[in-house]
Amino acid sequence: MTQQQFFATTAKGVEEVLAAELTRLGAEGVVVESGGARFSGGLEAAYRANLWLRTASRVLMPLAEFACETPEQLYQGVRAIGWTGHLTPAMTLAVDCNLRDSALTHSGFVALKAKDAIVDDLRDALGSRPNVDSKDPDLRINVRLFRNRCTVSLDCSGAPLDRRGYRLDRHEAPLKENLAAALIELSGWDGATPLIDPMCGTGTIAIEGALKALRIPPGLLRAGFGFQRWLGFDRELWSRLVEEARQGMLAALPAPVLGSDLSHSAVAMANENARRAGVGDFISLGRSPIAELSPPPGPGTLIFNPPYGMRLGEEEALKPLYKEIGDTLKQRCKGYTAYLFTGNPALAKCVGLKASRRIVLYNGPIECRLLKYEMY
Ligand SMILES: C[S@@+](CC[C@H](N)C(=O)[O-])C[C@H]1O[C@@H](n2cnc3c(N)ncnc32)[C@H](O)[C@@H]1O
Repeated sequence: MTQQQFFATTAKGVEEVLAAELTRLGAEGVVVESGGARFSGGLEAAYRANLWLRTASRVLMPLAEFACETPEQLYQGVRAIGWTGHLTPAMTLAVDCNLRDSALTHSGFVALKAKDAIVDDLRDALGSRPNVDSKDPDLRINVRLFRNRCTVSLDCSGAPLDRRGYRLDRHEAPLKENLAAALIELSGWDGATPLIDPMCGTGTIAIEGALKALRIPPGLLRAGFGFQRWLGFDRELWSRLVEEARQGMLAALPAPVLGSDLSHSAVAMANENARRAGVGDFISLGRSPIAELSPPPGPGTLIFNPPYGMRLGEEEALKPLYKEIGDTLKQRCKGYTAYLFTGNPALAKCVGLKASRRIVLYNGPIECRLLKYEMY
């Protein structure tokens, strides 16, 4: 089978965890890089990564890399790839662009120029050109410009992998599904002891925990992936991987996965999301203020993200809540290891406990901390 390079992207701070996931999946040549991890393999490696990776945002397949300081170099470099093996005029395409520290500074312009090179190549070779569909294209192409080096990749995933498809409701600041999965991976929770999110909001952490413990691949929930619409999609290979995954799923959780929240509407949403994720019968999500938390006997893991107030005045108002969190951990969570995820270090101080570990990671543009507290 032809060996190909791939690049799985993720949030800053999650790269090591993603690389460990890839290694567990049997990917070869795994190398951690800023913003993701590189790996190699055949189509199977790419399909498997899309189906199984819990912490990735996308899986990209690089086609070419070249020096790029001018629009002309960009156009020629993209065109030289030769697109007839990837697209027909009947298919639709979209081009995404991320750029940093380069002579070309406008991502919209770079995407447009790359798109022109692709459609011109097709028109010259086949007499007609494919159309653009920025929302739901048959082929999504990623152009990355970093320090005047351009990497052009096919996006194997299509819609980002964090969109598993189970969360349709919106509530106060839900975590992206792959970030929730990253918090679980960083905590080292392996499914054998209780997992509790006492501020569960839409239930993302509990749902991701249940998916992991039941060995359900997150990709199984999705409507589809980019590579399924590519020329040369290997349907048989994909069906085999899905079937293998189904065979390996557990019928019950080894240990309880629990969530609670102060808000009735959040709990209702969390339950609806859990049902859509296929784990509604396995996890228990109820209404309770954190001060009344009564976890099953430890050892176990608490992972939660309290509100962290981005606007002026909110921080002050949230200080008592963070103090209450600290008191609850001390008084009610003996034998547990707690992981608190927050974007506000000043509020974290109000917990009044000494963190035994601080992990920096990003929630979109916001620098956050995952703080570990051991409750002996
Ligand atoms: C940032 S959101 C959590 C989002 C969640 N991780 C998700 O992915 O949807 C914070 C949650 O804390 C809840 N909350 C606030 N005060 C609380 C309290 N005293 N006890 C329990 N939950 C509380 C809010 O209702 C809100 O759902």
